[in-house]
Amino acid sequence: MAGRIVAFRPVVDQEMKDAACRVLDSGHYIRTSPTESSEGKALEEEFGAFLAGSDGRRLYVANLANGTAAMHLAWLAYGVSRGDEVIIPANTFVSVAHCLSLVGATPVPVDVEADTYNMDPASAAAAITPRTRAIMPVHTAGHPADLDPILDIARRHNLLVIEDACQAIGARYHGRPVGTLGQMGCYSFVQNKAMTCGGEGGAVASFDEMRVRRVFNLANHARGEQFHRARGDDSMPVAHDEVGFNYRQSEILSAVARVQLRRLPAWIEQRRRWAGLYRELIAACHLPIDLPGERPYAYHSYVRFEICVRERRALRQYLAEHGVRTQVHYPTPIHLDVPYRDQLGVRPGALPVSERLAREIMTLPLYPQMTADDVAYVVDHLQAFFAQRKTTTA
Ligand SMILES: Cc1ncc(COP(=O)(O)O)c(C=O)c1O
Repeated sequence: MAGRIVAFRPVVDQEMKDAACRVLDSGHYIRTSPTESSEGKALEEEFGAFLAGSDGRRLYVANLANGTAAMHLAWLAYGVSRGDEVIIPANTFVSVAHCLSLVGATPVPVDVEADTYNMDPASAAAAITPRTRAIMPVHTAGHPADLDPILDIARRHNLLVIEDACQAIGARYHGRPVGTLGQMGCYSFVQNKAMTCGGEGGAVASFDEMRVRRVFNLANHARGEQFHRARGDDSMPVAHDEVGFNYRQSEILSAVARVQLRRLPAWIEQRRRWAGLYRELIAACHLPIDLPGERPYAYHSYVRFEICVRERRALRQYLAEHGVRTQVHYPTPIHLDVPYRDQLGVRPGALPVSERLAREIMTLPLYPQMTADDVAYVVDHLQAFFAQRKTTTA
């Protein structure tokens, strides 16, 4: 029985394998210009069309090596730097804070909502100081952050909103794709997300063409227009715009991502079906489990199905013994993690919801290829665990 149901499993099909082999056979693996015909450029256009709303505005995308690169370059593109403070949720992936440290800014973690696990807009408002430059809401596990109040706070204080949509590609807030409501959205295609590319991948998206172009150039050693013009004209000096990075995406992975993107809407629907079944079966058993919220404004993409339980360690062990792999994503909230606890001076207990989630949250298996029997198997074992606890404590 061991290993019966894993925590997540990417979908791989023949078309994805063919796409990877096509690029391998071509011998052309790296995209070095923003305009040359390439898998990366095609992915940018297709992803832009996927995210674009119905208002006809064109959305620009830069295809990158990963979601961390997307956030790092987004801050550089908007000039966020030393002396700036940026409000982030405390219950999130550490690279959200790292990218701010990389540009010299200060991450300011705030508490989250107990049901969506997303930034609490009231906590964000309370954290504003004269040095606040931006807010980064994270759309955790596929549930959109409550953007209207956050955008309202940002307007009133003249702040940037850069969305971390790394976990929420395909999720929507009041019908609009997440990542497209602030100034820029950051996405990840790493293997445990709703779509992947067979490894690490990411992107930024924005209606601001110049900023997206700057992100691409920074990702490509800061080779701007002068560099590309000079490559076609020996009489011109080859020069770089500024200090840059190599955050380019492999053409092989971009080709795989293009196929995955076409499958994504159907996969999200399937994820939503399994999440609905989890909800129904768990609620019917009346177990001491808090289910994740799904607010009326949300089209949740269910990258994860996260529950809260007080007996997490024992439950995870019991499930593992019965072949069910679970995960805990953020056992340490940002303000208590080593690089930040001394720097920020936020004491334990200051962000109680994030700290409780760190102790109680766990992720049940959820991926499109699961079956209804798999979901029922997991819930049967949740039920069996609590039944056994009742007997041993009776
Ligand atoms: C909320 C969040 N932000 C950022 C990232 C960074 O993305 P990547 O792993 O592609 O660098 C992740 C990734 O796992 C994430 O979950």
